[in-house]
Amino acid sequence: MTLSDLEAELARLLSSYRTQMAMAASEQAIRKVYADFGGSSGSMRLAQKEALRSAPNTEKKAIGLATNQILAAVDVELEARLQGLANAARAAELRRTVDVTLPGRQRRLGRLHPITLVRRDIETIFAQLGFVVAEGPEVETDFHNFEALGIPKDHPARDMQDTFYLAGSTDIVLRTHTSPVQIRTMLTQQPPVRIIAPGPVYRKDDDPTHSPMFNQIEGLCVDEGVTLADLKGTLLHFVRRFFAGTDGAAGLDVRLRPSFFPFTEPSAEVDMSCVFCSGAGCRVCKQTGWIEIGGAGMVDPVVFGHVGYDAERYSGFAFGMGIDRMAMLKYSVGDIKLFFDGDVRFARMFR
Ligand code: FA5
Repeated sequence: MTLSDLEAELARLLSSYRTQMAMAASEQAIRKVYADFGGSSGSMRLAQKEALRSAPNTEKKAIGLATNQILAAVDVELEARLQGLANAARAAELRRTVDVTLPGRQRRLGRLHPITLVRRDIETIFAQLGFVVAEGPEVETDFHNFEALGIPKDHPARDMQDTFYLAGSTDIVLRTHTSPVQIRTMLTQQPPVRIIAPGPVYRKDDDPTHSPMFNQIEGLCVDEGVTLADLKGTLLHFVRRFFAGTDGAAGLDVRLRPSFFPFTEPSAEVDMSCVFCSGAGCRVCKQTGWIEIGGAGMVDPVVFGHVGYDAERYSGFAFGMGIDRMAMLKYSVGDIKLFFDGDVRFARMFR
């Protein structure tokens, strides 16, 4: 092969190198095209080596000079393409803009549900009187919810609490009140006992002041020498503390109205003076000046019998209030359902 044939062959290869280089879009593709032509075993490099090997010594220098020139162009082209890629990447990076004048994305802070707020308020007030929080299951046995509280199967008092039974069972119920926690506590603990037991309870009830799921808080105090006066004093202190900050809170009164619960004797409905009219009479208290907040009484000796307490030695008081009712009074909410509808606009109004 003459030098000019070799130059022509290399020029042809250079031209197809350029064509392929122009089509290569990624760095990887560019390096592959280079390796195919200008790399140590690329077609152009091999053609040069072959020419040098077979040429007489006198011509080698001329061949080396001429072919090196062409191969240098191959390297220059590679560098130019790589540089071009780097420039394009940098330009794209610079085109990426951030609008620093856009408003930031706000994270909304959550709030506690009003029932949770009220439950915690009540717990705090009783904790300061030495009551500890006790808990019990929401799915209860008939024994804890009724029997042990002096309400046998055919007792008319069962009608006072329309009960949800679990399907296929006459012995497992959704607890209708928090009073079974009294039983669970006394079965595992000896006096003195001072507990409050808040939590959801369930009844087949449904109107603006009754919900099928609502919350009660139970109180139980058993010791030697506990009297009805202790019950009334505790409730009076509670009511005044709970409404502290509202007009006339310090003058609020509590009255015990004779009533009946099978697990207390004597039993009472607990009324407090109306927070809206300070006892003068208004629409909320139906002109009576009093609002009912719960049931209460002295623990019936029958109950002590069920839990193995000595009724001769110990006496105790118990009460059960509707937490939702207390929240309605505190926040002037007219419909209990608002607490459970899940409307965040409502829930956000309380702190
Ligand atoms: C009881 O549930 C008794 N266990 C209370 C008790 C405890 C008495 C300890 C004696 C000793 P009562 O059924 O009255 O009592 O309910 C107590 C309170 O729960 C009511 O005063 C009321 O505030 C609230 N309540 C009752 N039913 C509903 C309901 N469907 N929706 C919202 N609140 C209710």
